[in-house]
Amino acid sequence: MSPEQPLGIFDSGIGGLSVLREIRRELPAENLFYVADSGHAPYGDKPLSAIEARAVAITEFLLDQGVKMIVVACNTATGAAAPLLRGRYPIPIVAMEPAVKPAVARTRSGVVGVLATRQTLASQQFADLLARIEQDALILPQPCPGLVEQIESGDLDGDVTRCLLERLLSPLLGRGADTLVLGCTHYPHLAPLIAELVGPEVMVLDSGAAVARQVRRRLAAAGLLAPADRVGRERFWTSGDPVMTQRLIARLWHPDAVLEHLDAHPHATSCRLPSA
Ligand code: DGL
Repeated sequence: MSPEQPLGIFDSGIGGLSVLREIRRELPAENLFYVADSGHAPYGDKPLSAIEARAVAITEFLLDQGVKMIVVACNTATGAAAPLLRGRYPIPIVAMEPAVKPAVARTRSGVVGVLATRQTLASQQFADLLARIEQDALILPQPCPGLVEQIESGDLDGDVTRCLLERLLSPLLGRGADTLVLGCTHYPHLAPLIAELVGPEVMVLDSGAAVARQVRRRLAAAGLLAPADRVGRERFWTSGDPVMTQRLIARLWHPDAVLEHLDAHPHATSCRLPSA
């Protein structure tokens, strides 16, 4: 393993770009390889075995590209597959944890809402997290079916997304939540709309920056930080509609970002999900 190698980052779609943004801010010299598995999004309502299969296929694809670390930039894939990936692959694996701990530390009303996918909220990882901190605040988990689909379709502030969000947020606000955790990496793309809907009194947290700091710590500990005088580059792949994903990546990342298709790589498609 050498410091020159890239980092591999993946999500069920464009959600992980919210984590990629923080990693780029923290580590300007690293080359970042990003896979948007949009052809199989959303993960959040799929069986665990299907999510595991995708996580393994994408990890093997990224290892074929020579990455030195995997960042699971997806809370759902973390809950479903992070222990499996850590047991199977001898490289550092960094994964997500919803920002519930900082939320509990900051809430004044003592009520915290957690927006995430059904699978994340049902995961052992989330149960363990709650067991460690639940006594310190009332935690209200809120599954958000349909929200990832809206974001993947590019609707970040339209009427349908706004209506859906209002419906999801209203029970949390009604019960006195003054702090909201975005426990899915897609949701930070809706941060301006969420801020508008909840108002300035409600704090909204996600864990992208904390994960980026963890990536830096793990690379430094392994002696794998890229040479500081280098300018890092990104490469993108998708398993989804290349036109749609290209449009989203251009909007959320950079207009000149170049996207490649995952189907060109046999490893990445060897674990295809049964169609829904
Ligand atoms: N970005 C993924 C997460 O953090 C979205 C999951 C999905 O595809 O449903 O959970």
